[in-house]
Amino acid sequence: MAANLFSDDQVNLEVLRQRAIGMRWASVPQDTIPLTAADPDFPPAREITDAMIEFLQGRYIPYGGIPGVREAMSRFLLERKNERIDPDFIIPVDSAAAGLQAIACALLEPGDEAIVFDPVDLLFGVSVRYVGATEVFYPSVWQDGRWKLDDLESYITPKTKMICLCNPHNPMGYLYTREDVEHIARLAQKYNLWIMNDEIWSDIVYSEHTYFSINSLGPELNRRTISCYGLSKGFALAGLRAGCVYAQSQEALDAVSKIANGHVHGMDSVAQTGMKAALEKAGYWQDAFVAHLQGNRDMVYERFSRMPLIKATLQQCTFVTFPDISATGLSSQEFVDFMQKEQKVVLVPGTKFWFGPRAEGHVRLCYATSRAILKEGLDRIEEGLHKLEKRGRV
Ligand SMILES: Cc1ncc(COP(=O)(O)O)c(C=O)c1O
Repeated sequence: MAANLFSDDQVNLEVLRQRAIGMRWASVPQDTIPLTAADPDFPPAREITDAMIEFLQGRYIPYGGIPGVREAMSRFLLERKNERIDPDFIIPVDSAAAGLQAIACALLEPGDEAIVFDPVDLLFGVSVRYVGATEVFYPSVWQDGRWKLDDLESYITPKTKMICLCNPHNPMGYLYTREDVEHIARLAQKYNLWIMNDEIWSDIVYSEHTYFSINSLGPELNRRTISCYGLSKGFALAGLRAGCVYAQSQEALDAVSKIANGHVHGMDSVAQTGMKAALEKAGYWQDAFVAHLQGNRDMVYERFSRMPLIKATLQQCTFVTFPDISATGLSSQEFVDFMQKEQKVVLVPGTKFWFGPRAEGHVRLCYATSRAILKEGLDRIEEGLHKLEKRGRV
């Protein structure tokens, strides 16, 4: 059964063209392929939607959460990610984005500094700036097959309160190793900093690699680590706004609870029902999804490696790739505009707004779609690159 879940005919463009807004199918003309927002084109596991339908058929939607949600999350984190988190230290929130914001609101004050890796997803900076704190960019450099972290300490000042970690990393698609996260945890301990640890991408890790969460180092090194996770990526539930914030120490839990309680009220019972069903019943779906994505990843890498003016990397994780297009001579925004106008394929530009100042020269492509749509998108990009090559923009 799982084999058919991600066949070409499972992508329902009729529904996506009505519902998938935000740079996706409902926001682009019919002849255009959006490989943009990191939101899968496949429907989620049927067990999840069935559970929500059954819940609604019971008709009562009272105050209060769904019993067993925190326990389900605790088991899921332990069994699939080797993270030991007490159910009482898990706070359901209405999305990872809300979780990041709650963490920033709880722990930062105006004038504080938070170290944000650059490039990285925009939500870290958004959360830090929302509180009036300052983001201090630390270059995300992948060099000789590993993250460069040796000078991270020199970015810490008396005003630094937090290090923001995105593991697995969006948009670069690499994992932090045990040594990497231990280095970060020890620095945080030395300077008494908080770690805001975003694990939303931890479901999407390819078979040659193993995810190592900072939480797997245990509570001693994570006294001041607060993590968040969401179901938008690994369970294709972006619109459900389902996620959680969690910690391993009472100190961290107490610090974030005072703000996060407001967000708990924001996660509705239908979403909690869907989240519980996903965690308990949709593991098989997620495994098949990752296997499908691995095929897509290989195809993107192999195709980009043969195209002119674009430099690909092979992702270890996530379902986005972030190729270097600087050889085209175009800015990332110009490249995206060209591909959209002439080739009818949309990507996300590597602008400061989306990913930070060091993202320039790159574009992000989401490949959580069918093989057929991906192939057509890549064909269009390839033709566009040949046009640019002919125009001699290099
Ligand atoms: C690193 C990261 N954190 C958080 C989010 C947002 O997650 P959610 O849909 O749960 O708000 C995203 C979405 O792309 C992301 O890439």
